Amino acid sequence: MDLNGAAAIISGGASGLGEATARELAGAGATVVVADLNAERGKAIADELGGLFVQTDVADESSVQAAVDAAVATGKPLRAVVNSAGIGWAARTVARDGSPHDLASYRKVIDINLIGTFNLMRIGAAAMARTEPVDADGQRGVVVNTASVAGIEGQTGQVAYSASKGGIIGMTLPAARDLAAVGVRVLTICPGIIDTPIYGSGPEAEAFKAKLSAPVPFPKRMGRASEFGHLVRALVENDYMNGEVIRFDGGIRFQPK
Ligand SMILES: NC(=O)c1ccc[n+]([C@@H]2O[C@H](COP(=O)([O-])OP(=O)(O)OC[C@H]3O[C@@H](n4cnc5c(N)ncnc54)[C@H](O)[C@@H]3O)[C@@H](O)[C@H]2O)c1
Repeated sequence: MDLNGAAAIISGGASGLGEATARELAGAGATVVVADLNAERGKAIADELGGLFVQTDVADESSVQAAVDAAVATGKPLRAVVNSAGIGWAARTVARDGSPHDLASYRKVIDINLIGTFNLMRIGAAAMARTEPVDADGQRGVVVNTASVAGIEGQTGQVAYSASKGGIIGMTLPAARDLAAVGVRVLTICPGIIDTPIYGSGPEAEAFKAKLSAPVPFPKRMGRASEFGHLVRALVENDYMNGEVIRFDGGIRFQPK
């Protein structure tokens, strides 16, 4: 799929992996729509990239519809939908003090990370289905979702987060099968430990990141957001990639803690 002259929508495009993806896709000639809750950062990035910002809550139906409508209104055919919005969460199923995991926070993580991803995938793919195919295969567009290796080997205290990411992994193949009918490919990336603002900043955050990334076999460091953006672009551009979940983690395998 050639991104030059296409529209691309990136949820979570105001920070971290989404921001790096917006930069990469804009660099490939796409008109990017940054769909994020964070208006200040999102607008600044969209302006810098010659794209547009739409304040979006991925968990909200009308909000995502408005973001996709804005992408369609650019006049460029929508060819890429990248789901990068997400939140972290840490709590045990039963806490050390014996209290059960708070249900409202579990629901919130599922709502944003899993339902939010499905929400943009379904509305974005419906818009792609209304475009003209680009090639003899009948291809119209690509959806790239962001899960996590925590969705495969969730650690202690990640029960909500891992469930949300495991859900994204689980829907990748059936979604690809569904969307074959409209010429849309679906892929999911599982990042390991990538250096983004999700871990916070300051000395404590730096120490936490160093501890997290110490077991990475090679390269012995955190991943870079730009490396994630590069992978998204490669997946979008490679027409035979479909229905697959790709680890992007320097070879790390999470231990229980
Ligand atoms: N950084 C990592 O190591 C890592 C590893 C595995 C998975 N991930 C996943 O990658 C994705 C991006 O993470 P990141 O590290 O870039 O985080 P980040 O915090 O830097 O960026 C996340 C962005 O999502 C936006 N967002 C949050 N809730 C939203 C909502 N309801 N609607 C729209 N936007 C919303 C935030 O405003 C923010 O701009 C997340 O889904 C995260 O779970 C990250």
